Amino acid sequence: MTRLDGKRLVQSANEADNWLLGCTTPLHYPTNGQPITITLYSLCNLPSHLHQWAFNLVKRNLYDQYIAAKDTGWSDEDKLAEMSEEHAMYLIAQASDGQLAGFLYFQFVMEDYCADDIESGEDSSDDKEDEQIPVIYCYELQLESSFQRKGLGAHLMRILEEVGRKYHMEKSMLTVFKSNEAAITFYRKLGYDVDGISPSKHLPPRRAARISYEIYSKCLRQDS
Ligand SMILES: CC(C)(COP(=O)(O)OP(=O)(O)OC[C@H]1O[C@@H](n2cnc3c(N)ncnc32)[C@H](O)[C@@H]1OP(=O)(O)O)[C@@H](O)C(=O)NCCC(=O)NCCS
Repeated sequence: MTRLDGKRLVQSANEADNWLLGCTTPLHYPTNGQPITITLYSLCNLPSHLHQWAFNLVKRNLYDQYIAAKDTGWSDEDKLAEMSEEHAMYLIAQASDGQLAGFLYFQFVMEDYCADDIESGEDSSDDKEDEQIPVIYCYELQLESSFQRKGLGAHLMRILEEVGRKYHMEKSMLTVFKSNEAAITFYRKLGYDVDGISPSKHLPPRRAARISYEIYSKCLRQDS
């Protein structure tokens, strides 16, 4: 796939308007007998109280890890800007009694890929290094503590991956703090692995060690 083909795929995914149409992963999820409904919003129709709750939840769940990570730190303004990008999409999970359970924020984007990712037999010359591929990027996955460890996070990731496949994205990707062992265990269980563009894969070990995060990915191609 050329870079132009990839950009066209991202553009048409962003211009679609019924992303979950035909999705076979249920948009309901039972936890402790309390059904949860999952709704997809794009940023332009996401109610502001849900956007604010999502921001607050990230801060409650991960503030300490951001502060401990010397290379990132925490800034309300930066996080709000990050969560307000033009093509931001939110899967919001809400229990039948109205309680907000969690959310997943993603975008369709072009992302760098590493020549090592190319299947054997293909050209791995240097000119590949600047190439990018279309991916569905999970920027946030956050659950309220009372809704964790009930399978809801895995369910939201299944929806993400199905949407990614529907729009022919090559990979599902995400960034996670190295210190977030629970999340890393979770993503690995779902089949994610450290991506070729992650700092530990392409920086000298001493430089990589100073970086607080890793980039994980999972190939979505049907033929892989
Ligand atoms: C990480 C998170 C998204 C996982 O979602 P979840 O619904 O709690 O996880 P699931 O119940 O779907 O777990 C699936 C599997 O992942 C693994 N896993 C999930 N949470 C784990 C934890 N805290 N410790 C160890 N393994 C864990 C387990 O293998 C689990 O399967 P099991 O319950 O059958 O043993 C959720 O716990 C969360 O929101 N955490 C706080 C915010 C956060 O760290 N987000 C990720 C940022 S990158």
